[in-house]
This record gives sequence, structure tokens and C-alpha cells, in this order.
Amino acid sequence: MRTVVVTGASSGIGAAAVVELARREWQVAVVGRDPARTAAVAARAGGIPFTADFDRLDEVRALGDELLSRFPRIDVLVSNAGGLVSRRALTVDGHETTLQRNVLAPALLTELLLPRLRAGRAGGGQSGRVVVTSSVLNRLGGLRIDDLDFARRRYGAGWRAYGASKLAAILYARSLAERTSLEAFPFHPGYVRSGFGAESASARLLRLATGTLQISPEAGAAPLVHLVDTPEIGVPNGTYFDGLDPLGATHPSASDARLADALWQSIAERVGVPSAVDR
Ligand SMILES: NC(=O)c1ccc[n+]([C@@H]2O[C@H](COP(=O)([O-])OP(=O)(O)OC[C@H]3O[C@@H](n4cnc5c(N)ncnc54)[C@H](OP(=O)(O)O)[C@@H]3O)[C@@H](O)[C@H]2O)c1
Repeated sequence: MRTVVVTGASSGIGAAAVVELARREWQVAVVGRDPARTAAVAARAGGIPFTADFDRLDEVRALGDELLSRFPRIDVLVSNAGGLVSRRALTVDGHETTLQRNVLAPALLTELLLPRLRAGRAGGGQSGRVVVTSSVLNRLGGLRIDDLDFARRRYGAGWRAYGASKLAAILYARSLAERTSLEAFPFHPGYVRSGFGAESASARLLRLATGTLQISPEAGAAPLVHLVDTPEIGVPNGTYFDGLDPLGATHPSASDARLADALWQSIAERVGVPSAVDR
């Protein structure tokens, strides 16, 4: 049976995705933050619940250990957990919260799971693959290696940090495609009715003003499910999808290989994993 690990699966796009993937006979590791919500989705999907708060790297490491001991092979990891943080704060690990939640913690989990993802590739079935939920807001740019924590710039009620984190998510996926044997595809799910921005006044206002433009979580999950469940994607490794469209527009620095490498070095240093090329 093919195994997929989906983070951010307790709500919204991730929850809709795990239900559909289970229906397509994937064994699904349903990863959330809130134990009750995660257990409820896992029960609905027939998946296995796991929890960790990405704002604490010790919990991400413990999650990595649990997944490593539970699964001999992971075919696909979906890094979908994340969101908008309206007030700048540092986590217990000392990183700006958006950066940690949307970039550092997902990268740490991915690096920890590399041995199982490589086994997925060697397993003769689907290649080991990482699917990353980015956002059209990557086009805001604003990723600065010398100020990843937004200590010296306007935070913009979290939107600027969010945009930078979603650009970083694309660059991280591209660095994975470059330095490992895995496939990695970042994507934008569309403007989806979900829990996204629930704690942000500006996001709530935006939702009120644009109700009819929002698509269902199931529609938002469609590109994710496609990227997990399609054996041959048929485009170059690292391609960014806007929905199902592989010609998704990105900020110009999403193709900056030097920036991708500098980001990867900085991530590796912050989360404490080896930064060497690992093919
Ligand atoms: N909705 C959109 O229009 C849109 C557009 C582009 C990209 N995205 C991206 O899509 C992804 C899924 O978001 P969504 O729209 O489905 O929103 P959502 O309903 O709020 O789901 C977010 C998921 O991430 C989890 N999460 C949030 N913070 C976490 C933390 N500190 N530790 C562990 N898990 C955490 C949530 O857990 P809890 O249930 O505990 O909150 C939930 O499972 C996010 O990466 C988001 O940035 C969304």
C-alpha cells in the first residue's frame, strides 16, 4: 500500500485531501496540531493520526521519530501545514513564527523523513516525492537572507512575512529537487474557504468582502491530490503549479539558484541538520 504523510490535515485543504487520498486507497498519516480535530479527521478518512505543534521544533523532531518508527517507506510527504500570523513574535526556538511554522518546521520534518522518502523511491512504486503547499502570495517576494525573521522591516500585519515564507517554500522545494534524489512540487491551491487567517482581522475582512471568489476545500485539495496520486507528473522536477497549471507565475527570485542555496544553508543551520548535498 502506498503511504502519504499530510501535515495540516486537521482542517481545510489538508482535511479534504486526506479523505480523497484514503478513498483512492492511500495509507494516510493525518498530521495536525490539535489532537481532537486531528483524530476526528483521521477517523473520517480511515487514516492514522499524529500531532505536533510546528511552533516547537522539539515536537517536530518527536513527530519525525514517530513517523520513522511507524513507516518503513513513505511514498509522498505533503508539507501543507501553515498559515498567516498577524502579530510578529518569536517562537520558543527563537525564530519569527511565520518563518518557523511555514518554512523551518516543514523543512526539518522533510529532512528527518528523507531515509523513508528515499525508500519510497527505491520501493519500485511511486518515486519518493514531496508536495509543498505554497501560495500565489509568493509573488509578494520580500525574502531576505539577512532578515528572515522580519526584525528590521515592516511586518504588514503578517502578510509580508507570509509572502516571503511562501516564496521560501518554493525555493526549499527546488533545493530538494536539486540536492536529493526526490521529486518536489510546490503549488498554489487557489483561494480556498478554510480556517486560513482566522486569527487575523485583515484576513477575516478580506474573506467577508470576497465570499463568492472562494472555492471549496475539496476544490483547493484537487491539485494536491493530483500531485500525490499521479505517478508521472510529466514536467521538470521542482515545477510550481498554480492549481493544476504547471506554468504558475512566481516571484522572479523563485528561480534564483544562489538564493535557494543560501536559504537552504540558513535553514539547515537554524534547525540543526547537515547542509551537504545528499543524492
Ligand atoms: N486558504 C487559502 O486560500 C490558501 C491559499 C494559498 C495557500 N494556502 C495554504 O494552504 C495550507 C493549508 O491551509 P488551509 O487554507 O487549509 O487553512 P486551515 O484550514 O487553517 O488549515 C491549516 C492547517 O495547518 C495546521 N497548522 C497551523 N498552524 C500549525 C502549527 N503551528 N503546527 C502544526 N500545524 C499547524 C492547522 O492545524 P489546526 O487545525 O490546529 O489549526 C491546519 O491543519 C497553508 O499552508 C496555507 O498557507 C491557503
